[in-house]
Amino acid sequence: MSTSTQTINLGSLEAIALGQGRCFIVGGEEIAVFRQRDGQLFATQNRCPHKQGPLSEGVAGGGKVICPLHSHKFDLVTGAGSEHGECVKSFRVSAVNGEILLQL
Ligand code: FES
Repeated sequence: MSTSTQTINLGSLEAIALGQGRCFIVGGEEIAVFRQRDGQLFATQNRCPHKQGPLSEGVAGGGKVICPLHSHKFDLVTGAGSEHGECVKSFRVSAVNGEILLQL
């Protein structure tokens, strides 16, 4: 099986405050990148599958994000949602030399 991944540099890690998320537009798609207080990075689609709430403005911690609109929760690694049938796409993201590298 061949998979093609693309690595995109989203710029300085410092652009995201610890414990917060930020929305980036990548190839016309909104991607939320979260920087947990413990330093771990996660990335998911930005729009909540419930009613399009901006997940990047939600509270992220413990490997989950809580949507700011109606508090549905999503696992930042698997994308699995707290409500039946809801899930988000998640992406690999890492910090290298202080820059955020996203893999699509
Ligand atoms: S829009 Fe996210 S929980 Fe409703």
